[in-house]
Amino acid sequence: MIHRIPSYILKVLTTSFVAWIILSTAIPQIMSKYSEQEIQTNVYKKATYPYNSITSPTPLPIQNSTVYFIIGHPDDEVMFFSPSLVEIAKPKNGNDVKLVCFSTGDSVHESMGRIRSEELRQSARILGIDSDNVTILDTFKDGMNVTWDSNEIRDTLKDIVGVGKSQRPVVLITFDENGVSYHPNHISLYLGTVNFIKTYKNSDYKLFVLKSLTFWEKYSFTLLTNVELFVDHISRWIFNNIEIDINISFFTKSDIPNLSSIKFYSDLNMLSVSYAAMCYGHYSQMVWFRYGWLVLSRYLTFNHLIQLN
Ligand SMILES: *[C@@H]1O[C@H](CO)[C@@H](O)[C@H](O)[C@H]1NC(C)=O
Ligand SMILES: *[C@@H]1O[C@H](CO)[C@@H](O)[C@H](O)[C@H]1NC(C)=O
Ligand SMILES: *[C@@H]1O[C@H](CO)[C@@H](O)[C@H](O)[C@H]1NC(C)=O
Ligand SMILES: *[C@@H]1O[C@H](CO)[C@@H](O)[C@H](O)[C@H]1NC(C)=O
Repeated sequence: MIHRIPSYILKVLTTSFVAWIILSTAIPQIMSKYSEQEIQTNVYKKATYPYNSITSPTPLPIQNSTVYFIIGHPDDEVMFFSPSLVEIAKPKNGNDVKLVCFSTGDSVHESMGRIRSEELRQSARILGIDSDNVTILDTFKDGMNVTWDSNEIRDTLKDIVGVGKSQRPVVLITFDENGVSYHPNHISLYLGTVNFIKTYKNSDYKLFVLKSLTFWEKYSFTLLTNVELFVDHISRWIFNNIEIDINISFFTKSDIPNLSSIKFYSDLNMLSVSYAAMCYGHYSQMVWFRYGWLVLSRYLTFNHLIQLN
């Protein structure tokens, strides 16, 4: 009996992955053949191909903006933010995407900082962000037992982002109060960014935080995502394209009312970019257990951003 368990798990994972490819990639691609006039006629008006993205709400509320992803360590941009980062950076959305990384990732040894900084630039290039738009700071020390000063983070953001009225809308994206895994560096970034937004209220910037997932949700592979996508497709067909908010979450309750939030679902193409950025870009981080983490983690295919102001 017991020796069957691994093969049983493997079957569940394979089935779930195939179902996910159908729901996230095949169905939207087939649908776009019927809904996009440009694809039907093969005459294209814009320089960007009509890409069918799965976000809730649709179309994406973040467009024509300058978007700052504020992360703690090289690789956070892939391990936690890749669905939202890749989606927001798609040319059709007209955003300028900037990455601000608060440490060089030198917790193991100082000499690692240079390698991991270079890897972050490499990963960003794979994700479609050129080096000019990547800022890596070495003033904050990477470490599981290090809390970063909230006022220092606020002042650093003031220097990088600037304050006051800007021509284009400015959006800041960072961790939430639980920092994905209660990592003190991530939580410090949340507190520092909130501090920045509160101090410079008149700047009119929007702040979104990445909702931390509970343990079971985090390692749900594509199982939970499949249920959500399935319900979404069905409701779109049945209600004939009426916008319906995907609201299914079996493990957590959203108890924050009236806040706008955005859900991002990667498709196979976006997931492939994330794997490339992680496995090739952040080569030094690919110890054996990371491969398992990458496959099972829900953050690679799903992001839930919650607007805080
Ligand atoms: C973004 O800019 C493009 C080009 O200027 C424009 O066509 C589009 O309507 C804008 N989108 C939004 C949401 O303002
Ligand atoms: C990088 O920043 C420049 C200047 O703000 C901007 O024009 C460009 O679109 C950005 N690149 C990306 C990929 O967002
Ligand atoms: C954090 O932990 C490391 C080793 O675990 C130690 O060398 C370092 O001094 C600690 N830093 C702080 C600020 O406590
Ligand atoms: C989704 O959840 C929000 C907040 O819990 C609620 O206000 C909204 O009505 C829900 N939408 C649907 C379609 O159930």
